[in-house]
Amino acid sequence: MKVFIYDTKEDLFKDLANKYSKAIKNNPKINLGLATGSTPVPLYEELIKDHKENKTSYKDVKTFNLDEYIGLPEGHEQSYRTFMNNIFFNHIDINLENTNIPSGSVKDLAMEAFRYDKLLEKNQIDIQLLGIGTNAHIGFNEPGSKFDSNTIIVELAQETRDANVRFFDNMDEVPTTAITMGIGSILKAKKIILVATGDSKAEAIKNTIEGPITTDVPASILQAHENVEIYLDKGASKLLSK
Ligand code: GLP
Repeated sequence: MKVFIYDTKEDLFKDLANKYSKAIKNNPKINLGLATGSTPVPLYEELIKDHKENKTSYKDVKTFNLDEYIGLPEGHEQSYRTFMNNIFFNHIDINLENTNIPSGSVKDLAMEAFRYDKLLEKNQIDIQLLGIGTNAHIGFNEPGSKFDSNTIIVELAQETRDANVRFFDNMDEVPTTAITMGIGSILKAKKIILVATGDSKAEAIKNTIEGPITTDVPASILQAHENVEIYLDKGASKLLSK
């Protein structure tokens, strides 16, 4: 694991966006694994700027998002599809048909998970972007998740619902289940980039980097992947021993 620590969030996201921009220019047909949550928003903003100023093109890029809530109607403003369109896809020259997010609104969710796995089998992800939950979940793989799973339907931990209630009117509206790439699918990416900012992620980051590999800390399995980079600001890195 390579760990990069920045004085400010601004420096972090400028540097990371630069690396993405170079990777896309080097491989215009790159397969990008993308993440939601508030953490990567500044990255998407920097990439939009880069697209406008430096003409980095996404015409041949394919994207694969980690996860989606189950039960929100299509077009719901908190669905990850709406989020990704609004925050990123609508501002770059990507073909929306090349943007993939598992659906949480189809009837047959088992079939949807199967479809997503087949898609991932055909399209190995070059760079998988990850945020991290306060309980060290990745995608929506909560503590206790198996390390070898493919796309699955999961129950959300109360801690995760608590963390995400800020996006909804009240707790009753926060979905209780989601569809997510499994940890096994995430680990198939050639390279994994995990980003965490703020004090609230410090403990999850310490356990991820310095703790034992355990299903209690889903992100700790990243220690076993050969190409992982972790980007942190001061707050998220504050409990690391070195
Ligand atoms: C959700 C997403 C995760 C994300 C996490 C942290 O649970 N499924 O992919 O990493 O939230 O979100 P935030 O970046 O807003 O703290």
